[in-house]
Amino acid sequence: MTLQFQPFPPDHVPAELMVDFDFFRIPEGTSDPAEIWHDLVRRGVPDIFYTPHNGGHWVFLDYDDIVEGYRDHSIFSTYQTPIPPIEPFPVVQPQGVDPPEQNVFRRLLAPMFTPIAVRGMVEHLEHRSAELIERFADRGECDFITDYAEKFPTGTFLYLFGLPEERLPEFLALANVFFRSTDPAERASNITEIYAVLDALFREKMASPGDDIASAVVNARDENGQQHKWENILNCGFLLFVAGLDTVTNTMAYIWRYLATTPEARQYFVAVLDDPDAFLRAIEELMRINAVSNLFRRVTHDCEYKGIRFRRNDRVILPNTVANRDPDVFDNPQKIDLDRKVNRHVTFGVGPHRCIGSHLAKREVMVTLQQWLKRIPDFELAPDQPEGSVFGGSVMGFTGLKLRWPVAAK
Ligand code: HEM
Repeated sequence: MTLQFQPFPPDHVPAELMVDFDFFRIPEGTSDPAEIWHDLVRRGVPDIFYTPHNGGHWVFLDYDDIVEGYRDHSIFSTYQTPIPPIEPFPVVQPQGVDPPEQNVFRRLLAPMFTPIAVRGMVEHLEHRSAELIERFADRGECDFITDYAEKFPTGTFLYLFGLPEERLPEFLALANVFFRSTDPAERASNITEIYAVLDALFREKMASPGDDIASAVVNARDENGQQHKWENILNCGFLLFVAGLDTVTNTMAYIWRYLATTPEARQYFVAVLDDPDAFLRAIEELMRINAVSNLFRRVTHDCEYKGIRFRRNDRVILPNTVANRDPDVFDNPQKIDLDRKVNRHVTFGVGPHRCIGSHLAKREVMVTLQQWLKRIPDFELAPDQPEGSVFGGSVMGFTGLKLRWPVAAK
């Protein structure tokens, strides 16, 4: 097979722009995986640099360049971008295609995730969140990841796709292999399995449509009145499955880790429980400071950007966590200011591919905080945190987060 999207050897990269950096490698003893990115800034490496690891790729560290990487799809494409490179790679819809082709599935999905649409989901989210928390609230301890932060967004996917709650273990198992396995054979069979499940699901929703997103996608018609290509329908289902799981899980993990160690922040949220504007502003700040995603782009043609030569198929990483702490854009960027008024963070991307699920993601965090603080107002990190439970990559986060809190004797 001829590989078409592999980067060139980096003989176009000047030595002064080469940096030894592997975004999967978290040094021992690091408790926050985002620190590997902030460490680059502290070391004063160039704002645009190239690393030979993971097939070789560029890294942008300046807010404006990261925004440009998102916006200018004539240079920085989302088509076939994985780092390290994999071919062929599923062309997920709409994230894996550039405008105008991207618009087809974007226009189909966007109306189902507007703030108003998400408000209609709140009752369901509250009910499921309360039910999950009540399973362990009396225990005085939990592993926040396995007991809550993995289950909640996976349950949201089931709800969006009109699937019964009983299928949670099956989808959790699929997601766990997808996000955590490093074994190529296991990964390949996992993707085949996810596609088989989606195929069966979409066929069922075609035969008996419901009031859910899977039914809307499979029964939508293109401009010629035809059903969308089956492959694109599956690739859209696949994106919706992967986009809102690990991102939400690890954003929540970061937030709960912060709240567990910051009593003033817990008190702040309790104080604004009935003030949605203040509550959302505070969540926006937690989104800024806890940006878990590092997005990939692929250079479309040989060109110069900011005086640097890029070659067709070069890969680029856009680390949101670095953009969000750029001192040229944010006052006092390292400070977590829960009342920050101006907050142009890029946690959900910017430009044509900006996250469709951002309102849902924020609502999932908001609902969880409300339900949690009502039942567990005070909590802390348990002393027996497992060592090395952090990981890097395109989404950074934690494999375990043990929390504990006082429970009244019965
Ligand atoms: C905290 C949680 C989340 C974060 C940090 C996040 C982040 C992002 C980012 C950075 C992008 C831009 C991708 C790019 O430019 O290549 C994106 C796109 C997207 N996200 Fe999210 N996301 C989150 C939750 C969700 C949820 C809950 C859903 C829906 C179930 C979702 C669905 C999507 C979709 C469909 C796209 C592609 C949009 C397009 O290509 O037009 N995301 N997300």
